Amino acid sequence: MARSRFLITGLGGSLAPRLAQVANGQACDVLGWNRQEVDPQDLIASQTFLEKTRPDAIFHLANGSVDWCGRLAKFAAECAIPFVYTSTAMVFNHEPNGPHQIDDERTARDEYGQYKIACEDAIRAENPAAIITRIGWQIDPEQAGNNMLMALNQWQERDGNVGASRLWRPACSFMQDTVAALITLAHNQASGVFHLDSNAIEGRTFAELVAALKKQFTREKWIIREHEDYQHDQRLVGSAELMPPLSSRLGF
Ligand SMILES: NC(=O)c1ccc[n+]([C@@H]2O[C@H](COP(=O)([O-])OP(=O)(O)OC[C@H]3O[C@@H](n4cnc5c(N)ncnc54)[C@H](OP(=O)(O)O)[C@@H]3O)[C@@H](O)[C@H]2O)c1
Repeated sequence: MARSRFLITGLGGSLAPRLAQVANGQACDVLGWNRQEVDPQDLIASQTFLEKTRPDAIFHLANGSVDWCGRLAKFAAECAIPFVYTSTAMVFNHEPNGPHQIDDERTARDEYGQYKIACEDAIRAENPAAIITRIGWQIDPEQAGNNMLMALNQWQERDGNVGASRLWRPACSFMQDTVAALITLAHNQASGVFHLDSNAIEGRTFAELVAALKKQFTREKWIIREHEDYQHDQRLVGSAELMPPLSSRLGF
């Protein structure tokens, strides 16, 4: 059987390299999008690149323009191949509070959340079969960039402690589990919006989570400062069966 060819954007980021690693392990060939060679805003160059590479699935993880999202989704629809996008829990504001259902109104007020809403809409307009995943804060022992474990190290360095709210139940998951779910959704030719949150059922607070991460990853230097300054049940509910719970990776 021919190997699948996955086009993965955003390989310079945190999550896409993990996706590439797992895809390679499943005998898939990974193609990246080198933005120095092909400017995503150059419509002709982008289309030529897509037609030349002819991927079997597109995983769009880069944080590029809204119209790039739409064009990639359209190309996937025309070729009848899976299109997978990583949106975010941040499409929901903390008011009204969660847990957030898939069909809840998206209430983001900040720039990033509104940008991701616009990306979701551009994709949906061009490709009703697209797979739009909303993911929470990612956890990984090694990946630099936007990764909870690395951020907590930085907070300790910067503040002399790790502030952790007892009133925040974050949407979050280990990168390994997120990327496995992305690949499963593509293989299953799913379509629609999916909430990939390993905290959806257990509902651990951020304070509980930070304590468990400290123990698991032996961050002896961390001084945990519990507080109640931020309140949000941010859990993304509705597709919990796609993700293992946090307790499968962490001792609480
Ligand atoms: N990490 C998290 O905790 C988290 C949580 C929720 C949602 N997400 C979403 O998951 C996806 C991957 O996350 P990540 O943490 O790996 O993101 P990231 O580290 O911010 O990387 C995103 C990648 O997007 C590309 N990019 C950035 N600016 C761009 C621009 N102006 N035009 C085109 N491409 C641009 C870059 O890739 P290249 O240089 O390789 O092109 C960059 O490495 C993102 O869509 C993010 O919004 C992540």
